[in-house]
Amino acid sequence: MPSIGWVLLFFLAVLPALATSGAHGDSKPAFRCHPDQAATLLQLKKSFSLLRYPNSLESWQDGTDCYFWEGVGCSNSSGHVTSLKLSGLYSPGLDPAIFNLTSLQRLDLSMNSFGQYSLPASGFERLSLLTHLNLSNSGLFGQIPIGIGRLASLISLDLSTYYDTIPEDYLYGQFDYVYNSLWLEKPNFQILVANLDNLRELYLDGVSMSNSREDWCDALAKSLPSLQVLSLGSCQLDGPICLSLSTVHSLTVINLQDNFYGSSTPFPEFFMDFLNLSVLNLAQTNLQGWFPRRTFQSKTLRVLDVSWNQYLSGHVPNFSNASSLETMMLEWTNLSFVKPDPFSNFKCLKALSLDAHFVSMEPQSSLGIPRSLQDLKLSQMNSNSDLGPTLSWIGDLENLLSLELSGHGWVFSQTSLSSVDNLKSLRSLSVSGCNFTRPVLFGNLVGLKSLEISYCSFNGPIPSALKKRSNIG
Ligand SMILES: *[C@@H]1O[C@H](CO)[C@@H](O)[C@H](O)[C@H]1NC(C)=O
Ligand SMILES: *[C@@H]1O[C@H](CO)[C@@H](O)[C@H](O)[C@H]1NC(C)=O
Ligand SMILES: *[C@@H]1O[C@H](CO)[C@@H](O)[C@H](O)[C@H]1NC(C)=O
Ligand SMILES: *[C@@H]1O[C@H](CO)[C@@H](O)[C@H](O)[C@H]1NC(C)=O
Ligand SMILES: *[C@@H]1O[C@H](CO)[C@@H](O)[C@H](O)[C@H]1NC(C)=O
Ligand SMILES: *[C@@H]1O[C@H](CO)[C@@H](O)[C@H](O)[C@H]1NC(C)=O
Ligand SMILES: *[C@@H]1O[C@H](CO)[C@@H](O)[C@H](O)[C@H]1NC(C)=O
Ligand SMILES: *[C@@H]1O[C@H](CO)[C@@H](O)[C@H](O)[C@H]1NC(C)=O
Repeated sequence: MPSIGWVLLFFLAVLPALATSGAHGDSKPAFRCHPDQAATLLQLKKSFSLLRYPNSLESWQDGTDCYFWEGVGCSNSSGHVTSLKLSGLYSPGLDPAIFNLTSLQRLDLSMNSFGQYSLPASGFERLSLLTHLNLSNSGLFGQIPIGIGRLASLISLDLSTYYDTIPEDYLYGQFDYVYNSLWLEKPNFQILVANLDNLRELYLDGVSMSNSREDWCDALAKSLPSLQVLSLGSCQLDGPICLSLSTVHSLTVINLQDNFYGSSTPFPEFFMDFLNLSVLNLAQTNLQGWFPRRTFQSKTLRVLDVSWNQYLSGHVPNFSNASSLETMMLEWTNLSFVKPDPFSNFKCLKALSLDAHFVSMEPQSSLGIPRSLQDLKLSQMNSNSDLGPTLSWIGDLENLLSLELSGHGWVFSQTSLSSVDNLKSLRSLSVSGCNFTRPVLFGNLVGLKSLEISYCSFNGPIPSALKKRSNIG
């Protein structure tokens, strides 16, 4: 009798569980990520040859819940994949299966190798909920498809390739980058951005836009009036930078470096009125004429780079809050400083590049380069004269991690470099164009990890102290 009671009790206990599984119509556990989505992801997995070591999408197993798969984000309510982030994989092209994940909001396939295959001409338009798309450094090739221009919800679009940041041995040499491997012709830039009303961040560095001529600039002002980040480095753009860009005053980051080879551009003065500007990079943009005698209105400007514009003359500008500036790149320009104490307001400066010509004209005490400096680059392009003792102040920059001295000619002699040996924190030292008459020692540079000496004339042997330093890479 007591045993019958126990059996009854057992049935009562399992009954609710049986009822629940019966309601779902099968005995499989309830997955939080829909099995349809898992099937699509597994098809995608097949297209990757899984070079990555040690974990090659190991969690992506048939019959398991894709809610827990690496790189996959799944909505709690619908069970659909809403975000996907994969990197370090190789695939001969992008498998169109991905366009079946129509609930995707964030897709990040940056840092993969799609083997120089073209982007699929159609399919992207199906991902109409996408807000963030990142295909940067993914080794894709060819015309950017119009489907991306139909993604009206996009907030951030990154199709950039940064040639200088790709590690040489990345993916065991599987990467094979071609300069300007993506391009905008049909559609061109104007058509691509025409319907991207919500876009706030646009990165197309390295995408060839040579076919857009000057029109890119007016199109941008017209279609993207609320843009905050504009990064179009090395896009083969043609100038000049149009006046209508002055209406996009929401911009916080402007990077147009390495463009405008066909036409010289005056410095676009209206950028100085953008109140939220934090990064302005116009390096190597064929700027000519005089830097405006005006003040940058933004109180949050962190980075100013106008280097490699050798015909840009005048004075380094004023800043309404110089102490927010962390990086100022001025090498290979014709800009000079207002004296005295040109650096006294730059309390937080961490990186600085200068044409050594101007430094050599100042008496060393008046420079006042802040001790906070971590990276210093001095180049001497315009003369062959020895910079000699004018560089002795370098020895006071006790926080310096990286120092690069480059000259055309024998401008760095033993005397100009003697103070470098005081820099105990230095990690990286690069000198080109030097004339050593005594053996070089650098015996105090105990933290040095990288040493590069090129185009130098030595009078005497390379010191054995240096040869013995095994920590130098
Ligand atoms: C989804 O569910 C998990 C676990 O129950 C929870 O931690 C997470 O916050 C939920 N996510 C959302 C967006 O509701
Ligand atoms: C997309 O899904 C449909 C229907 O579920 C299916 O017929 C088709 O084969 C899938 N396409 C790809 C490329 O996986
Ligand atoms: C895109 O991915 C790259 C590499 O993972 C990353 O550095 C970059 O910040 C991403 N872009 C955006 C807009 O988040
Ligand atoms: C600058 O940023 C602030 C705070 O994010 C914002 O309220 C303001 O509208 C921005 N100004 C411009 C010109 O976009
Ligand atoms: C910087 O401001 C000072 C004082 O406000 C002014 O005398 C000087 O001319 C300005 N320099 C430049 C380059 O505009
Ligand atoms: C460099 O600037 C000086 C004035 O500071 C000017 O006289 C000279 O013409 C400029 N050189 C070039 C190449 O623009
Ligand atoms: C100037 O910049 C510094 C450093 O970024 C910041 O702490 C300070 O609040 C800024 N001052 C003003 C007036 O914006
Ligand atoms: C290096 O400096 C010495 C002494 O100043 C000078 O005699 C010699 O010509 C210089 N060498 C070169 C290659 O300029």
